[in-house]
Amino acid sequence: MEPAYASTSLIEIRDLHRTYCRPDGTVLVAALRDINLTIARGQYVCIMGQSGSGKSTLMNIIGCLDRPTEGRYLLEGEDIANMDDTLLSAIRGRRIGFIFQSFNLIPELTVLENVEVPLFYRGVQKAERRSKAKAVLERVDLSDRLDHRPNQLSGGQQQRVAIARALVGDPSLLLADEPTGNLDTATGDRILKLLDELHAEGRTIMMITHDEAMADRSERVVRLRDGEIESDTAPFATLTHE
Ligand SMILES: Nc1ncnc2c1ncn2[C@@H]1O[C@H](COP(=O)(O)OP(=O)(O)O)[C@@H](O)[C@H]1O
Ligand SMILES: [Mg+2]
Repeated sequence: MEPAYASTSLIEIRDLHRTYCRPDGTVLVAALRDINLTIARGQYVCIMGQSGSGKSTLMNIIGCLDRPTEGRYLLEGEDIANMDDTLLSAIRGRRIGFIFQSFNLIPELTVLENVEVPLFYRGVQKAERRSKAKAVLERVDLSDRLDHRPNQLSGGQQQRVAIARALVGDPSLLLADEPTGNLDTATGDRILKLLDELHAEGRTIMMITHDEAMADRSERVVRLRDGEIESDTAPFATLTHE
């Protein structure tokens, strides 16, 4: 028999709207309109669309940095829309691993310390933090750089540290916003290969990109246009419907 959670999608978004309003309450921008999206565990989804189409707004909601104006967002069956900030930030810390275009490492900390940060905020004891951080740094092939500072690393190495930091808390979802945007093509390809491997190991990945080449690589492509889903396709026909 399947365990009970297997029937729950990782992400379920129903009739979601996000509107940015002026201080007087009038609508400034309808950034997301009538979004419906179901993402199963283990999928690798690309969110694509032109600048201003709503990608970051959607990513902020999925990453629990923001809430919908209307509609439902269930993350592992839990409704995010009505959670207060404290609960939302706790959910974010435990379930989402963020990877940014600009790496966002802390310059004063070593590689090892940067990767320990998410565990520190969870109150994990030092010895356990160290051993978990070392393990994920080994996974991204940086065991020989533990005591370096970010500015002593190449861009590709910095992004691998950021990926290790995203992985260290064993999140349900890896959320990557233009992760190769600051890297040259060859280095970017190595990062994409690492993400492919993590997906093959069972990680659920959502990547925001405007790089059309990515569309060939991902098993599912969701295209946004003017705040709406324009298309949702599975190029490799591996999309499982639940
Ligand atoms: N904080 C905000 N306040 C008002 N409008 C915003 C805000 N953030 C984004 N927008 C607007 O919402 C729309 C979608 O933006 P965004 O989600 O950043 O798109 P993308 O990431 O695809 O470029 C754009 O028209 C943008 O100008
Ligand atoms: Mg954006």
